[in-house]
Parts: sequence; C-alpha cells; structure tokens
Amino acid sequence: MARGKRLLPWGGAVLAALALPGLYNGLTVRRYTVRTGRFTGPLRIALVSDLHCCRHGRGERRLIEAIHREQPDLLLMAGDIFDHRRDIRNADLFLRGVAGKYPCYYVTGNHEYWHKGKVLPGDMALLAMRGVKRLSGEMETVTLRGQTLNLCGVDDPDASTVHPFYNGGDSGSFLQQLARLREQSRNGHYTVLLSHRPEWFRFYAYHGFDLALCGHAHGGQWRIPGLLNGLYAPDQGLFPPYAGGKYQRGSTTMIVGRGLARENTRVPRFYDPPELVMVELI
Ligand SMILES: [Fe+2]
Repeated sequence: MARGKRLLPWGGAVLAALALPGLYNGLTVRRYTVRTGRFTGPLRIALVSDLHCCRHGRGERRLIEAIHREQPDLLLMAGDIFDHRRDIRNADLFLRGVAGKYPCYYVTGNHEYWHKGKVLPGDMALLAMRGVKRLSGEMETVTLRGQTLNLCGVDDPDASTVHPFYNGGDSGSFLQQLARLREQSRNGHYTVLLSHRPEWFRFYAYHGFDLALCGHAHGGQWRIPGLLNGLYAPDQGLFPPYAGGKYQRGSTTMIVGRGLARENTRVPRFYDPPELVMVELI
C-alpha cells in the first residue's frame, strides 16, 4: 500500500510527460505525394482548410510565411476559412498575404452557410476583392509548370440543407454539382475536386475524380499517434473513418487536411496540431 502511494506521483508525472506534448497547438506542415501517372513534372499544391478566422501569429504571419517557404504552384482553400460567429479580420489578413502570389481557389464550408443558410455577402466580396476565385459547382482547366489539370469545386452540402428554401441557387445541389462536374471534366486531364466534406468520399470515387481535397473533420480533435486517428468528427461521429490523412478508393485518392482551427475550438486539440497541407503531384 505504502509502495503504491510512493509510485502514484511518478505515475502522474509519466502521464503528464506523455500528455503535455499532445497539447502543442502550433502550426505544422503535413506533406503528401500523389502519383498521377500523367504529369511529366511535379506540381505543388498548398491546401488550407478550416481556418475559422483563427490567429496564426501577428498578421497571420506564421501561416503566410509557412506557405511562402513551401513555394506552392497553387493554393486551394477547402472551406470554413470564415466562421459565421467570428470577426473576419484574421481571414482577411491571411487572404491579403497570399492572394496575388499564387493562383487561389476556394469552396465554401458549412460554417459559411450557418448565417441564415446563405453565405455572407461580405465574405464573398472579400474573396473577390483579394483575387480568390470561388468554385461554386464550377470547373477551370489550368496549366501550371507545363502540367494541365481540371480543377473542380463544389459548395458545401449545407447550402441546400440548412436553409429549406435555399437549394444552392443556380449552381444546383451538392450532388447535382458533383455529377455535372464529372461530365464536364471528361476531357482527358487529371481532375482535382475541392470539397469541404470528406464523408462523401464514396460519391467522389463513384464519379471517378482522380483526387479529392477536403477538410471539415479537424483531425477528429483528439488523436493518439499510432493508435487512434481521431476521436470525433462532425458528420462522421465517433472514431471517424476520414479524420485526416490520405485515403484510396478505387482510382480516387482523397486527402483530408486536419485544418487550422485553434482558439475557436471548445475542446482543445490533442496530438492534433493545426496543419498546412502540401500535396505534391508527380
Ligand atoms: Fe471547420
């Protein structure tokens, strides 16, 4: 008994030593490589998701400088850059730091619709002002460093579900957008789908997109490296299958960013630091 009491503080110290690094909340860079089988040279994509207007250093410098260091050819924003509950200042600082330096594309996330079911005009005006192209059920074929790819983007499904009278406007519902984009993208080029939601992976694979880039799951919030890749994610529940990482289904690859949310999260992230995702297509 007395021996057990003596060991108790040591046990506590070991637990604390294991748990404390898990609370690290600084920016990390996560890198993935995807073999397209079609490119003759590499193309580097920076994927930013779920910023939620959070702060990454003074003037968002930590995030902006991390992106500059990576020298991407393309910057994609997979939704929840804004947050209906938060001031847009940090999002604007971020946009000002990157827009114009790289081709920038954006799709909406659920939080951008949680203001009466419609995107806030101010958020969208800011994107346009900073030169960021929103893909609302749209496709662009771009050529960068001699490599050509189709870039498709869908609105978050909450565009048609949060507000019962709003069906995504002229762009159609989420599923209509997916089907239409797949038809448009049958031109022989490698096709990247930018979508906020990873839980629709089987639809992305069904339509045969080559690569889907997503966010939304925030890494499942709590992780235990090597044991648990995320405890809970919205719209996936407990032990989410697509909390963050690289997934394969048929010929479709999906990469899920764990997002950049920090101070807005009620439950602290655990072994799940905010991340900038870099994808190298080769
Ligand atoms: Fe989010």
